[in-house]
Amino acid sequence: MTPMNRRWFLGASAAGAALEATRASVKAETAALPPRTPMSHKPQPLPFDPARIKGLSEKLLVSHYENNYIGAVKRLNAIAQELATIDFDKAPGFQINGLKREELIATNSMILHEVYFAGLGEGNAPGADLAQAIDRDFGGFERWRSEFLGMGKALGGGSGWVILTYDKHGKRLVNSWANDHTQNIAGGDPLLALDMFEHAYQMDFGAKAAQYVKIVMEAFNWSNADRLYARYSKA
Ligand SMILES: [Fe+2]
Repeated sequence: MTPMNRRWFLGASAAGAALEATRASVKAETAALPPRTPMSHKPQPLPFDPARIKGLSEKLLVSHYENNYIGAVKRLNAIAQELATIDFDKAPGFQINGLKREELIATNSMILHEVYFAGLGEGNAPGADLAQAIDRDFGGFERWRSEFLGMGKALGGGSGWVILTYDKHGKRLVNSWANDHTQNIAGGDPLLALDMFEHAYQMDFGAKAAQYVKIVMEAFNWSNADRLYARYSKA
């Protein structure tokens, strides 16, 4: 063995031994890890009187809130319990992947439903700061409205969300598209959401998704979006 090869061999052996030692140490620590206390989420109350949203029945709104929103929160808590107790050192990849995927879906379903319900009310207009940002980024409220409405109608017959999002990366507002709960812009904060899953409208509108979109847009209460925009755009 030449001197150069010997130096390389000794260096590689030392690095290999260090890696093995680290692995053994991580394994020992992991084996000793106790289950952690899972985070528990509490459902938010419905922020409006479900009998007073024009064009959407109380039966539809209560069903949506109880079955889909509270269902997502309960599912998330159940997943958190599982994740707190499984042994990540021994669990098969499909179990870890499945639980983490379902955790992401339930988390985003919870968050987006909270934004959706907080955006419903007796219908009003955005406050001055948000209105100015909409003018800046969409060329006017009517242009924003036309885009958001068109995106909602385009998702009819399928499923997903249309979300007015504050994009922290670009420091701008964008209407983002998602055909499931997991597709918001990375780094995007939802301000206002339109639920286009069938459970949000089928009971009242059958397959007439476009009619539902128009009704919801008339019922948008912008107070929550104003509050969120102030928080995110100044962060
Ligand atoms: Fe929903």
